[in-house]
Amino acid sequence: MISLNDLRQFKQQAKKFSCLTCYDASMAKAMEQAEVDTILVGDSLGMVMQGCDSTLPVSVADMVYHTQAVRRGNKHALLITDLPFLAYATVNDAIANSRAVMQAGAQVVKLEGGAWLADTVNVLARNGVPVCVHLGLTPQSVHILGGYRLQAKTRAAADQLIADCKAVVAAGAVLLLLECVPEQLGQEITSLFPDIPVIGIGAGRGTDGQVLVVQDMLGLNAGHVARFVKNFMAEQAGEHAIRDAFKAYHLAVQAGTFPAPQHTFQVEL
Ligand code: KIV
Repeated sequence: MISLNDLRQFKQQAKKFSCLTCYDASMAKAMEQAEVDTILVGDSLGMVMQGCDSTLPVSVADMVYHTQAVRRGNKHALLITDLPFLAYATVNDAIANSRAVMQAGAQVVKLEGGAWLADTVNVLARNGVPVCVHLGLTPQSVHILGGYRLQAKTRAAADQLIADCKAVVAAGAVLLLLECVPEQLGQEITSLFPDIPVIGIGAGRGTDGQVLVVQDMLGLNAGHVARFVKNFMAEQAGEHAIRDAFKAYHLAVQAGTFPAPQHTFQVEL
């Protein structure tokens, strides 16, 4: 089973690691067979499993249900689970809801935010909860951000994001996840923290790990396809096509061939 220590070692060895979102046991089993390193039970399940317009309607009970299913199907990957919208608005909520998802099988809890989360991260870390902080495009704040779009496009905004990363790492965050930021910023943040693995989605080629939403990389997304998505199913055939798509993704991330330049955002910072 992959542990946080393994991810730290991968970083020291400059070995890239793979992550996919997952919400059910059979996909989780196929990811185990493909040796995907990390699984995120993301609150994106609100959109891809439940058909909602955003992640906002997702409940803690939903996250617990899907975490249990994924854990039953996969004993190999490090399992990260999202706390959903407003489930960590107070430290007490964060503690109670982290307990719920960790007792369901999560090994790391993911929260969206920045420096303002430092106290929460610190209390969770001191109580044995490993925390991943998700920065950049944070979908739970879609109505504040005004849509799903590239973040930190100026030097000032990039420096603010770096300050947020420093604050949550100082508070005890063990992983960072960057979504939809310029490649240069993804690289800068990854280099800044030698002991903190950084996972990227639309954050360029420089991060330690990559994550994609599983429906996107299987080509099951009927709507807008983001620039950073690649369909790994398109090249597969036969009864094991889904498992083979996961394996192709895992190997491409390890080899550094995914993401390719066309999946990145180039901005002069
Ligand atoms: O919920 C999710 O799937 C996520 C990914 C987009 C990183 O947070």
